[in-house]
This record gives sequence, structure tokens and C-alpha cells, in this order.
Amino acid sequence: MSYNLLKGKKGIIFGALDENSIAWKVAERAYKEKASFILTNTPAALRMGKIYELSHKTESMVVPADATSIIDLNILFDKALDHFGGKIDFLLHSIAMSINIRKGIPYTSINYEFLRKGWEISAVSYHKIMQTAWSKNAMNKWGSIVALTYVASKRSFSYYGDMSDYKSYLESITRNFGYHWGIKKKVRVNTVSQSPSVTKAAKSIKGFNQFFILSEKISPLGNASAEDCANYIITLFSDFTRKVTMQNLYHDGGFSKTGISETMIS
Ligand code: NAI
Repeated sequence: MSYNLLKGKKGIIFGALDENSIAWKVAERAYKEKASFILTNTPAALRMGKIYELSHKTESMVVPADATSIIDLNILFDKALDHFGGKIDFLLHSIAMSINIRKGIPYTSINYEFLRKGWEISAVSYHKIMQTAWSKNAMNKWGSIVALTYVASKRSFSYYGDMSDYKSYLESITRNFGYHWGIKKKVRVNTVSQSPSVTKAAKSIKGFNQFFILSEKISPLGNASAEDCANYIITLFSDFTRKVTMQNLYHDGGFSKTGISETMIS
């Protein structure tokens, strides 16, 4: 069922790789809600993933961009402004990568070059995207910018490694850039702290499957699926959340507020 929540709104969605990606679900839902958008990902992801399937389904243009490259981002935003014939209303940052996690390197013996790369991709790219949009005055008044995060930014989850640190940084950028966007442009900036969901990024985390089951048991409402997450993000892009900004919004079935659940001890 569609509510036309995003009718007339235009945006850019970063990070749809395959049908499991959170960004993929957001794109599908945004399309249903009558938004127009550009899909973007790295050239490698465009080759390896299924983004053209999604672009076909959602009648959207694909523009390659490495979100750590200011040159790529400039081209992307210029294309978007040209394509839409004006400013945009929403941006989704659904990007993360830890080389240390992928290579199974423990937190206690982290490789710092990998750390720097992962931080650039997973956190600094959010700043770069916003800075590019800012410098081009690309956002409409009352626009909305959202990134995905995880509760390991606030509490220690051993398997989440250096990604925990990237997520803390990402949430900090949200507050600090969010202030400036609010003051100058009436644009809101938030992160959504999502339940574990089975995606390519998640599968690279050791022990993810066991944790997924445990998280389901702890959360009073159960894990939030990627589809649930997409629905929530649509509300953040809609006009019904205009005064929500600089927040880290938990979308996790109650996981972050639960200590020990009955299911765990029975
Ligand atoms: P995914 O693997 O489908 O998406 C990650 C995306 O990042 C991919 O499309 C990948 O191509 C893109 N990417 C990597 N390097 C990039 C770069 N340099 N420039 C542009 N894009 C780049 O996985 P998922 O799970 O959909 O991840 C999306 C976001 O959701 C991430 O921020 C992740 O940390 C977050 N998240 C995921 C959870 C989960 O359990 N799956 C839970 C909480 C948050």
C-alpha cells in the first residue's frame, strides 16, 4: 500500500548492492511512495552487484561514485541537479566497510592503514557527501539526510571491531553537521541505529548469525527487518518529521533499551 509520502520529492540513495541491502529496500519503498531518485555506488559494486535491476524496477538513473572521492561526489551532485532540474530533498548514506573485519584481524591488533580506509569509507564519506551538497546548495529547505548506524557505537560488541569506532564518528558528524544544516538551510540530519539484518556487509562479521538470533531473543519486538527499516526511513524523508534532527534514532525492536530478557534465561 502506498501513502504517496514522498510525492514530488527527489533524492540520492547511496549503497544499494543487491536485494538484501538496506538501501535497496529504501529505494523500493521510496519508489512506491512516489519519490524520484538517483542510485549510486562504487564502479566495482556496479559491476558486481545488481543495481541495474533495481534502477530498472524503480525507473531511476545510476551514477557511479566512490563516496570517499570529492571528485566523484562533485560529478554525482552536478548530474543530480541537472537531472532533476533543481535541488533535492533527501540523501541516504547506506555505506560501510571494514577491511580489518573482512580480513578477520582482531581489534587488539588492528592494521592502521586498513583502519584509515574503513573510517574514510564508513564515516568521513558522510561528511564529504554533506559538504558537497552544502557547497553546491543542493538541498531544498526542509530536506532530510539519513545514515545507517549500529548500537556498537555506544556499547561494546566485541565482534564489531573497528566498525564500532566508525559508527561513533558517523553519529558525531550527524550532530555537528546537523547543527549547521539546521541553522542555515532548515535541513535535518539523523542516523538510524538498525537491528542486525542479513546483508553482504553483515555477513563479513564473524559470529553474525548467532548474534542475529540472540538479538531477536533480546528485543521485545524482535529484530527489525531491512524492510521495516526502509519504512522508518521513508517517514524521516517525509514532511511528518521536519523537526527531528541531530538524532541517533533506534530502530531495533527495543534491543538497545533491554537488559536481560525472559527468553534469554528461560
Ligand atoms: P551492504 O553490503 O548491502 O551495503 C554496504 C554498501 O556500501 C554496499 O553497497 C557497498 O558497495 C557500499 N560501499 C562500500 N564502499 C563504498 C564507497 N567507497 N563508496 C560508496 N559506497 C560504498 O550492507 P548493508 O547492511 O545494507 O549496509 C548498509 C548500512 O547499514 C551500513 O552503514 C551498515 O553498517 C548499516 N547497518 C547494517 C546492519 C546490518 O546488520 N546489516 C545493522 C545496522 C546498520
